[in-house]
Amino acid sequence: MEKENKKVSFSGIQPSGDLTIGNYLGAIKNWVSMQKDYESFYCIVDLHAITVRQDPKELRSRTLKNLAIYIASGLDPVKNTLFIKSHVPAHSEAAWLLNCFSYTGELGRMTQFKDKSQKIGESVSVGLFTYPVLMAADILLYNTNVVPVGNDQKQHVELSRDIAIRFNNLYGQTFVVPEPLIAGSGARIMDLQNPEKKMSKSVENPNAYILILDSPNIIRKKINRAVTDDYAEVRYTEDQPGISNLINILSTITNVSQEDIVKRYEGLGYAGFKSDVAEALVEELAPVQNRIKELLDDKSYLEKIYSESAEKANYIANKTLRKMQKKIGLVLR
Ligand code: TYM
Repeated sequence: MEKENKKVSFSGIQPSGDLTIGNYLGAIKNWVSMQKDYESFYCIVDLHAITVRQDPKELRSRTLKNLAIYIASGLDPVKNTLFIKSHVPAHSEAAWLLNCFSYTGELGRMTQFKDKSQKIGESVSVGLFTYPVLMAADILLYNTNVVPVGNDQKQHVELSRDIAIRFNNLYGQTFVVPEPLIAGSGARIMDLQNPEKKMSKSVENPNAYILILDSPNIIRKKINRAVTDDYAEVRYTEDQPGISNLINILSTITNVSQEDIVKRYEGLGYAGFKSDVAEALVEELAPVQNRIKELLDDKSYLEKIYSESAEKANYIANKTLRKMQKKIGLVLR
């Protein structure tokens, strides 16, 4: 397929905590499988991370770590544009413009905002409220066709669509209207201790999540401790959310369907199944972990990648930003 004809994929991850296998199986692994067929932009969304307080030193180091994780997971930094959002000021400018075309009502209905603001109360930042508009700016600046994300980000991508359509209706065709692309069995990896909740890097109990950088022994321990049930049968059903989650993890890594996994473990208990899930994860993550360490020892290489990518991203984003400014009626210089 010629480069010019390729559809555009855009996505990003916040450097707000160490990345989990939820991020890896729900997003990154999909990005890697898409790289042949799409013109791809994958961003480290540092400006999204600061919607809640971050330690400056940690934020800086996690931003670089995320870039290393993207590359170590198999994203070719030549084929994909891997960049840091704050290196492309057009995102912030476009977000302001789009703020003026977004409604407080629709932002207030975003479940992620509702959840977080309930926890934080009145001192929740304005940035957290308008966060989906910044996300819309990210996506729309690159003429994005598809946004590969986990299930929890679907609502935000749908809002980006609404904003794009609203702007296009007012000013004529300006934005490509993006589609969410939700991963199959990896789309919703659940908390290992409370499988009714999605796995997240922000819960206190470390047994609830597995980090991409967890050592093999920690991975084995965490899977071993993962909450199951008393059925003692590996089945993919709603009343076995813990086991279903482990089936999803195994299915995403091995590309074997949930049904085939269930068949394979028929009549067998949980011990062997859990140990196979753990070993699959260890095998998947070990080479990624080694590569991350190598990359983090070569800061100048990472610097080269993010600098070159920022140039390309700035060029494309600025073109769209100028188009927006012109349509709105701002005087261009
Ligand atoms: P973030 O940083 O919370 O998550 C990054 C990606 O990981 C996916 N994910 C999961 N998938 C499956 N199971 C889980 N337990 C799980 N946890 C996280 C998320 O769905 C996401 O795909 N607002 C976004 C970042 C963002 C963005 C964008 C995404 C900013 N601009 C533009 C796409 C396009 C966020 O906070 O994701």
